[in-house]
Amino acid sequence: MFTRRQILQFATAGVAAAAADLPSAFAQSNPSNAALPQDVSGSHSLRAHAATRGVLVGCAVAPALLANNSQYARLVAAQASILVPENAMKWAALRPAPDKFDFAGGDAIVAFAQANDQKVRGHNLCWHEALPGWFASTVTKDNARQILTGHIQTVVSRYAGKIHSWDVVNEAIDPAGTRPDGLRDSPWLQLAGDDYIELAFRTARQADPAALLAYNDYGIELDAAKQTQKREHVLALVKRLHDNGKVIDAVGVQSHLGSGDTITGNVDGLRDFVSELRGMGLQVFVTELDVNERASQGTVDERDAQVAAIYRDYLTMMLAEPNVAAVLTWGITDRYTWLNGAKYARADGQPQRPLPFDADYNATAAFFAERDAFDSRKKT
Ligand code: G3I
Repeated sequence: MFTRRQILQFATAGVAAAAADLPSAFAQSNPSNAALPQDVSGSHSLRAHAATRGVLVGCAVAPALLANNSQYARLVAAQASILVPENAMKWAALRPAPDKFDFAGGDAIVAFAQANDQKVRGHNLCWHEALPGWFASTVTKDNARQILTGHIQTVVSRYAGKIHSWDVVNEAIDPAGTRPDGLRDSPWLQLAGDDYIELAFRTARQADPAALLAYNDYGIELDAAKQTQKREHVLALVKRLHDNGKVIDAVGVQSHLGSGDTITGNVDGLRDFVSELRGMGLQVFVTELDVNERASQGTVDERDAQVAAIYRDYLTMMLAEPNVAAVLTWGITDRYTWLNGAKYARADGQPQRPLPFDADYNATAAFFAERDAFDSRKKT
């Protein structure tokens, strides 16, 4: 929980950081990055470089870290122009009980962003994961639509005017699915019906006409057959939403990549996809970028170089597309990456290094690759 004092307290901590040029704060000694220049804040920050190209840049954040870890708060304030809650606005966090909402985490992130002149993405209004414990025993075919629309109306109205864009529906296409439309056989499809996605988007549009409404998904980045098929299902879904009342404004391409991925020559399908969305007047956001390097070999510097190459190749390609409007990484420091969970642990027991700042808050090679990618975008 967060007290009002705490919300204001850490929000101002960030303000001081955003104003100051804080190279030294992040230049702790760390052999793996000793060679990298650490002038990474102020005019050298991701935020400053992205702004010169009219692009938003940011990361997923946790309210408890913003409130209790000043180094983390300073880094987020200095580097990001847009934030997204990693978990604080999911059903599991917002809905402790069927008749209760807990907005403390979401409010804390919005307050921090407002104090640091940052925008906020809302993530997410409808997903088959992160559902609260009471969901399965409470939601039925009879009440699912009302529970879904009630949730969206309450949450979106509370933050109306404060949210840049919502991930209205997350990961609704199932690559292993058997349906012709590719829809995941999720609790929402089973209980709220085939048109639950349109219902969610229409409800969000009504609750906050100012927010951009996005569909967000993963595994649609590369030219691999499965990813191509999934991308085609996503495009068909987006076209349905666009043709039936233009209730969608953007697509989130999560961009959870791997250090072993081939990018160059293997993203033509994604480029065509982004271009087709541009033709429909839609924006594209890179919403959850990180590079899973659990299988990469070599020294820390060699592993970092592999990760940085993926950042550089992927973001240079994406940022060449005029309707790519935002790039967010899924976290900003390796210290708190979701990839350090057991499922993605490295065989050598070393922590993963998927993000632009390492666990000691030093900029990694990926930081400079990401910053160079912004610089590679044509100035508008
Ligand atoms: O908050 C509870 C805590 O009270 C409890 O003690 C603890 C142990 O069970 O769990 C905590 O909740 C965890 C939550 O993260 C906050 O840490 C959940 O168990 C855990 O499942 C949840 O994982 C998140 C996952 O989404 C599922 O919501 C990850 O942090 C988050 O990085 C991940 O993010 C997703 C995006 O939302 C969608 N795209 C894929 C991406 C990666 O899976």
